Amino acid sequence: MEKKPKKALLFEVAWEVCNQVGGIYTVIRSKVPAMVDQWGDDYVCLGPYFPQRALTEYEPITSDDGSGIYQTVEKMREAGFVVEYGYWLITGKPRVVLFDIRSVAAQLDRIKYGLWERHQISTVNIEDLVNQTLGFGEMVRVFLTQFAEDYAKKFEITAHFHEWMASSGLPDLRKDDVRIATVFTTHATMLGRYIASNERDFYTKLPSFDWQKEARYYAIEAQATIERLAYLSAHVSTTVSDVTARECEVFLGKYPDLVLPNGLNIQRFAAVHEFQNLHMKYKENIHRFIMGHFFQSYSFNLDKTLYFFTSGRYEFVNKGYDITMEALARLNWKMVQAKMDMTVVMFIVTRQPYHSINPDVLQSRAVLGEIQDTCEAIEKQLGDKLFLASASSTDHHLPDLNQFVDEYWRLRLRRTIQTWKTKRLPPYVTHDLKQPDSITEYCERSGLKNHEQDRVKIVYHPDFIASTNPLFGLDYGQFVRGCHLGIFPSYYEPWGYTPLECVVRGIPTVTSDLSGFGDFIMQIMRDYENRGIYVINRKTQNFDQAADQLANIMFKFVRMNLRERIQQRNKVENISDVFDWGNLRSYYDTAHDLAAKKAFKTTVN
Ligand code: UDP
Ligand code: G6P
Ligand code: GLC
Repeated sequence: MEKKPKKALLFEVAWEVCNQVGGIYTVIRSKVPAMVDQWGDDYVCLGPYFPQRALTEYEPITSDDGSGIYQTVEKMREAGFVVEYGYWLITGKPRVVLFDIRSVAAQLDRIKYGLWERHQISTVNIEDLVNQTLGFGEMVRVFLTQFAEDYAKKFEITAHFHEWMASSGLPDLRKDDVRIATVFTTHATMLGRYIASNERDFYTKLPSFDWQKEARYYAIEAQATIERLAYLSAHVSTTVSDVTARECEVFLGKYPDLVLPNGLNIQRFAAVHEFQNLHMKYKENIHRFIMGHFFQSYSFNLDKTLYFFTSGRYEFVNKGYDITMEALARLNWKMVQAKMDMTVVMFIVTRQPYHSINPDVLQSRAVLGEIQDTCEAIEKQLGDKLFLASASSTDHHLPDLNQFVDEYWRLRLRRTIQTWKTKRLPPYVTHDLKQPDSITEYCERSGLKNHEQDRVKIVYHPDFIASTNPLFGLDYGQFVRGCHLGIFPSYYEPWGYTPLECVVRGIPTVTSDLSGFGDFIMQIMRDYENRGIYVINRKTQNFDQAADQLANIMFKFVRMNLRERIQQRNKVENISDVFDWGNLRSYYDTAHDLAAKKAFKTTVN
């Protein structure tokens, strides 16, 4: 195992360390084992401290471990900051320093004044989340400055910042000449995200946008300026894909020094059939949910049912939920026209404000549980009595099975079945949303409302999936395994983990040529479609054409037979190794080496 020279030490700084919001959490978390492999103890993550979130992911180090980190944390505590130091309880178990931003709340005005005075960053009237990131950025700056002051002689220190939310202190670190090599990675530009969701021809107009004018228009001047300054201040500026590199040039002022593609911690099974078995196993859980959700109103053949899904933060246009909905309506029409006996259930998994899970959904699930319990009780009674009767039988006739079931259980089963059936349509959204959104509006408008004759059913789950969630009893990864096809035809997507997470679990997936992942696949592979990665052309096709392409892909998928589906799962899973951090970490190594070279080339240790 190769190890860096003793004196190198790397801090990786992100708002999503110990704090899952979206894909940046996945980048850092999945990369930890490969980083620890390379850096050993000289790798430390820095993140914000949110007690509720840290509860399950963090374990404090309570006594002096003799490290400079501990000493620096102590110094900060003495100065009145609240700082946590311990282990991040994930595979690789790295050390982590978490900053409690509440301890700088009273200093916010001073921090803001500093940003204005030193960098002309205006932070008036910003939302609370941005205030929080300023507190975090400041605490990171104080920590790194102190650490460098005490240990720059001992260590060649590199700090890798992810996104603007972690980086408001970066320009000052450079201005103050703190002896640290810095790398900045943008996982999306603020302006790109905003403009793309509002302007259909974002990519055509891209070269001509004036970043300042747009930032003002969308009222995100503070965020956009911090992002730009951090990007330009770092010794090495990077992004995650060629797609976003073009945006960086326009919005952040220069083409990135490097592109660092995203990977995962790939652990493959020794035998191929094992992941296929897992698909079967978790599909059973989904079947159970489907029975509870639909069979109260009507039933369909689960052996002829396919589970499609999309997932991610709620960005209706950027994540391509709009073309997905349109394509589903077209698929439904095609399947009805073709009189197909297959059913497609489409899960839409995202996060939207809701009051609670819809009581009807919970109730039908509970009644299904009661039916199952009653059936099991009858099964047991029947089994015991049948066994006894068979063993003591004096003739060769089979006993009448009906006589073995008590009146009590018969009536109980009948009563339960009576309360079970309903005439209402199965709800297409599982929770009571605080307000209708574009997904529910589309369902209403298009009539995709789970009518019995519809071949495409909708289950909109406006919350991320967790194993504690009562509806599926699966964690997100297991849910993905139980499905047949992941659908992510994004319009704006710097990378896009969700389709890659399908690939490594052996689930075919749809992506788009405007997503970093889709673009990357097209560059490294020719027969991607044959291997179960479908790339929607959103670069040159309009909305209507792209929706048609997606509908056709889904229609083709529905017509595949079992053997073809199994083969395609094998093929797609086979691609996984390409995305192992064991391979892709080298891009990060290059960035860190380059930053150290730039920062320390004139330094004599
Ligand atoms: N995700 C999750 N639970 C869910 C749905 C999504 O943990 O129910 C995760 C998913 O595993 C992925 C991340 O959310 O790692 C989304 O990352 P992506 O890069 O696709 O998009 P981003 O949110 O960063 O724009
Ligand atoms: C896996 C299992 C097979 C099962 C199949 C169902 O491959 O190993 O035993 O028949 O899943 O596949 P399907 O695409 O119908 O869910
Ligand atoms: C961002 C992007 C997403 C990317 C993730 C990790 O949040 O929206 O496309 O996968 O960062 O780089």
